[in-house]
Order: sequence, then C-alpha cells, then structure tokens
Amino acid sequence: MKIFHNKSELSHLIDNLKANNLDIGFVPTMGALHKGHLSLVKKGLSENDIVVVSIFVNPTQFDNKEDLIKYPRTLGADVELLRTVSDDKIVVYAPSVEDIYEGKVQSQSFEFDGLENEMEGAFRDGHFDGVGTIVKRLFEIVRPNRAYFGEKDFQQLQIIKKLVELHNIPVKVIGCPIDRAQDGLAMSSRNTRLTPNHRKVAPFIYKTLKSAKSKFGTKSAKKVSEWVEKQFNEQPLLKLEYFIIADIETLKPVKRKSTKKAYRAFIAAYAGDIRLIDNIALN
Ligand code: PAJ
Repeated sequence: MKIFHNKSELSHLIDNLKANNLDIGFVPTMGALHKGHLSLVKKGLSENDIVVVSIFVNPTQFDNKEDLIKYPRTLGADVELLRTVSDDKIVVYAPSVEDIYEGKVQSQSFEFDGLENEMEGAFRDGHFDGVGTIVKRLFEIVRPNRAYFGEKDFQQLQIIKKLVELHNIPVKVIGCPIDRAQDGLAMSSRNTRLTPNHRKVAPFIYKTLKSAKSKFGTKSAKKVSEWVEKQFNEQPLLKLEYFIIADIETLKPVKRKSTKKAYRAFIAAYAGDIRLIDNIALN
C-alpha cells in the first residue's frame, strides 16, 4: 500500500492517475479507523479505480482542546485495517499539520446557506469553518472524481454538498449509511475512549432515536422532544446536549410537519466527557 506524508509526492501520483483516465475515489478521515470508515472505502472501491484515504486529525475543527489532544492517533493499525480491504487499490495520505497548513493553522470563514448555524454549528464554535477549510484543501490536493461521507455526520455531509455547489468544485459527493455495532451504537473513533460503563449505556442513544421515530408517526415534534428529554433525565450516565427533529434540506427544526418534506432526528449527548452524536431518518 502506498503511503504519502506530503502533498507534492501525492500530487505526482494523482497526475499519473489522471493521465491514465483512472477514476479516483476519496475518503477523508481523521484516522482511528473502524468498520464505519471501511464501509465508505469499500463503496469507493466499487465505483472507482483507486481510493485515496486521508488520515489527518484536523486541528482547526476542534472547539475543545482536550478533545484534540486526546483524539486517538493509530496510523499503523489504520494501515493494517485498510490492507484487509485492498493492498493495491488504496492510497493513504497522512500529512503533517505543516504539510496542510504551511505555518498558518487557521480556518477560512464559510457560509453554507445557514446550514452551518444549526445543531453542531450552534454547539461547536468554528467547527464547520474548520471542516470546510480542510475538506476544500484536501479536494484541491486529491482532485477526486467522487468523495464519500457518512450519514453519521449528516450535517457535515449536507455542508460538504453545499461547499461543492457554492465553490463549483468538480467532485461528486456521495452519502453512505451509518454503520453500527451489534448493540446499535453508531461506530465512532471516540467510542474507544468510553469507560466500560459508558460503553454499556451508549446504545441507549440509538434506542431512543428509534422510539422517537415511531412516536413521530402520531405525535408532534414538540411532544417527541419532551419525551426524549424525559428519557435522558432518567438516564444518569448520559447527558443530552440536544435532540432536534429537522428538515433534511435546511436542517432547521421542524415547526409543523409536512408530508412533502423529509425529516431526521438528531442527538448529541455526553457519556462522561466523551461527546457522541447520532441521527435517524424519520420518513
Ligand atoms: P471522521 O470522524 O474520521 O469520519 C470520516 C468519515 O467517516 C466521515 O464522512 C464520517 O461521517 C464517516 N463515518 C464515521 N463513522 C461512521 C459510521 N459509523 N458509519 C458511517 N460512516 C461513518 O468526519 C471526519 O472524520 C472529519 O470531519 C473530516 C471529514 C475527515 C474532516 O476533517
């Protein structure tokens, strides 16, 4: 497997692939790979000749310094895991902060038609400026035909689609379903940091989302939200940050249900000091 640590070397390879008319799939990640990431890589391999996987813990998208410091960094294990999927069709790009930011570790400021102000945008200051900055830069370096993002971070997926549209970036953005552990917990790099007790109760998040989905059939968004808040109040090991039912296009909280619109329910919750997010399609 080819592993690049700097963009000029990767760029040579990309030039070659382009000259040979090969399709490039791209899966940007922050590493500590798990089978959720692998599902994106597999989808990429099924639709492209080569898949570039970037592994880079992007400092500008962390609003919490502690979270950045403690974010797991496991490059050796990540490469081994990718090898189980393919050795010759995956290229890893694992740059340093310097290779990406060239001495200026700073976000560009973005507007994404207001998508950036909802949910994660409201609770994580500057997060989507950081995400927009890194993904735009990676798109410029990797020049992929298709890029794969998980619905696990549904707001991020919608924002990247908007980024590509507003900045005329020639890449097709493809959303992929949420991969879960057997007990329903959405796979996440942060799960490895949960204490055994927190890991045990964490599937409560998805269980509550599924119940919220069934209640949303007959109850208002307000009533469902009150019910969810009550469930979390009775669960001392998890602290709800938000539960929101939103229109999937605008990501704005639903006021009055319309049969013409599609909705998703979103949760962010703390298990100790680990922040977990999840979401579910409602209709
Ligand atoms: P990271 O959290 O490593 O996730 C990389 C990609 O994997 C994202 O598109 C994410 O939605 C997807 N993913 C994570 N867990 C998943 C799961 N359980 N099922 C399906 N897909 C899953 O998201 C980021 O990194 C960063 O913000 C990044 C886009 C790389 C920019 O720094």
